[in-house]
Amino acid sequence: MRITIIGSGYVGLVSGACFSEFGIDVTCVDNDADKVARLQRGEIPIFEPGLDLLVERNSAAGRLHFTTSLPEAVRQSELIFIAVGTPERRGDGAADLQYVYEAARQVAPHIKNFTTVVTKSTVPVGTGAQVAAIIRETNPEADFAMASNPEFLREGSAIEDFMRPDRVVIGVEESRAETALRSLYRPLYLIETPILVTNIVTAELTKYAANAFLATKIMFINQIANLCEAVGADVHAVAKGMGLDRRIGNKFLHPGPGYGGSCFPKDTIALTRTAALHNEPVTIVESVIAANDLQKQRMAHKIIRAMNGELHKSTLAVLGLTFKPNTDDMREAPALTILPILQEQGATLQVFDPEGMAAARRHLPDLHYCHNAYEACQNADAVIILTEWNQFRNLDLARIQASMRPRPDGRYLFCDLRNIYVPETLRQAGFLYVGVGRG
Ligand code: UGA
Repeated sequence: MRITIIGSGYVGLVSGACFSEFGIDVTCVDNDADKVARLQRGEIPIFEPGLDLLVERNSAAGRLHFTTSLPEAVRQSELIFIAVGTPERRGDGAADLQYVYEAARQVAPHIKNFTTVVTKSTVPVGTGAQVAAIIRETNPEADFAMASNPEFLREGSAIEDFMRPDRVVIGVEESRAETALRSLYRPLYLIETPILVTNIVTAELTKYAANAFLATKIMFINQIANLCEAVGADVHAVAKGMGLDRRIGNKFLHPGPGYGGSCFPKDTIALTRTAALHNEPVTIVESVIAANDLQKQRMAHKIIRAMNGELHKSTLAVLGLTFKPNTDDMREAPALTILPILQEQGATLQVFDPEGMAAARRHLPDLHYCHNAYEACQNADAVIILTEWNQFRNLDLARIQASMRPRPDGRYLFCDLRNIYVPETLRQAGFLYVGVGRG
């Protein structure tokens, strides 16, 4: 089987590499010649654990190809995946579909035999129908069927998510497309992955509903965490008590500085936008978006309070910048809201992130970028854990303390915005521990 994936960004590249690992012949097309040249040399433009090996192995086996030339790839493929970017449109927050529609226009003239055209990017309800209309209009002769196959990959564990998904959602309008997609996903069917076949709009909406629900779960526990602080309760015990109810489940109940990344912020806004257009507002998601904005600011004010408002001429060590660990992605990272507020108050920020510093520099040029966590802690008045990278979970606390400046009461301030430390351990070690929702 041969397929083409248009767009070698995060979704396209991971999907292409994983499909080729299933033994399928995959051509990844991208109009960025420089990116394609790098991929042909085996250089991976994004940080995703395990992706380099997958690309190397399948390129060497002759199953994974990268090109800028769309026509030939399309002519030879049974399935075409559209996996180009759908950034947030300036002004109204809706998803910008110009790249999706452009891909449809480019594909249309080259469809030879029966082809299934699949949207893989997260696209608003109704996009599949639009793409089909564009193809029909551009090439009335094209023998094709439209499908939607949303991705549920988490950055940092995308390959595992692709190879062992909780489910595969397939939206189709005719059985020829269903047959093609089922045959593509046969290796997952063999490991008993549930494959949900629906119509196209249902598949499109399922993706948004899933992401919005996960974002809601996170913001729910964050608001409960804030309440825990007010009443002296422990949010982790509350989350455990809730999560043991199988109807609720224990995942995505970890409090922190709010959600970020390329998906939840964009998808929640796009969903509210679609809902408004159809006059069926999803007010729950609207308030989740507002709560997330507030949570990020709240974290900055939590730090300011812990510093007794005295940030002028202070130095803060910030460990972690990316929106979550195991990625170099800074999109919508809480750091982008929290750190400028601290800077405005006069703090000097010494920061370290294992993978995100190049991206962070573009947004936050006037931070002091350090080589490691210990360098960031030199002469710091406080340590702030912003992203829960594994290497921050077991810091040499005595070494950090020896390089920090103590508070007037002799303790050392430690703000753990991801709750990765045991408060009691830090207290016993002479730190003033500030977590999220921990009494
Ligand atoms: C998310 C979804 O989890 C994927 O299923 C989906 O495919 C993807 O979006 C997408 O639409 O492409 P991702 O953005 O990579 O994946 O990251 P998550 O692991 O879901 O984390 C998102 C944010 O929520 C991060 O900022 C993370 O720190 C935060 N989070 C997550 C919490 O604050 N608490 C939690 O309990 C879980």
